[in-house]
Amino acid sequence: MEVIIVDAAEDVARVAADAITALYRGKPDAVLGVATGSSPVGVYDELGRRVAAGELSLSGGRAFMLDEYVGLPADHPERYRNVIERDFVAKVDIASDAVSGPDGGADDLAAACAAYERAIADAGGIDLQILGIGTDGHIAFNEPGSSLASRTRIKTLTSQTRADNARFFGDDPEAVPRHCLTQGIGTIRDARHLVLVATGRHKAEAVHQLVEGPVSAMWPATALQLHPHVTVVLDPPASSRLQLAAYYTETYRAKPSWQGP
Ligand code: F6R
Repeated sequence: MEVIIVDAAEDVARVAADAITALYRGKPDAVLGVATGSSPVGVYDELGRRVAAGELSLSGGRAFMLDEYVGLPADHPERYRNVIERDFVAKVDIASDAVSGPDGGADDLAAACAAYERAIADAGGIDLQILGIGTDGHIAFNEPGSSLASRTRIKTLTSQTRADNARFFGDDPEAVPRHCLTQGIGTIRDARHLVLVATGRHKAEAVHQLVEGPVSAMWPATALQLHPHVTVVLDPPASSRLQLAAYYTETYRAKPSWQGP
């Protein structure tokens, strides 16, 4: 696991966008995994800037979302499919129909989860998955207690996550759906490169557990320790609980130029 502590939140977006740019340079039809929420918004802004400047194109690629709320109407602004259109698709040059997500409005949710797993496999798997992290250590919506081998399935959101996400629902935790469809931790671990971005002091404990804690379903993000290619990009407040912060910084500064993202 590579831990990169940058000087400021803006630099988190730049470092993550560099990894995505390098991927598309070598593989123009790459498959990107996209997250929703606040953490990746700066990354999508930076990708949009690079596309507008002619430095990057995602037009040959595909993208898969991590998760979706169950039961929100198709036109609900917080339905993740609509969020990803606004936050990602509208800023870059990927076709809207090249972006897929689990169908949280399906009559048969279990069948929708199985179909989503097949769609990812049929696309050849995900080359680079962008991740955020919940304050309770969730990745996608794999809440504490999730199987570290789980596949896409229905999950019940914790009251902590519903409180955290209430800011998108008029500050009313009760308005946040109770259920979601989410890629499992096993699904996420199948992606070839995982790039997790986190900013702010409120993420510091979850980041500490992710990087330095024992692998445990109590902190689902700790499963990333079992993946061979993970990049964690942090601003100083998000890194503030790391015991080996100085070593990670020293390692990054001494990174040989021939070593890729
Ligand atoms: C969203 C997702 C979640 C978020 C996490 C952090 O698709 O999968 O795991 O990444 O809840 O959310 P923010 O970035 O809003 O703090």
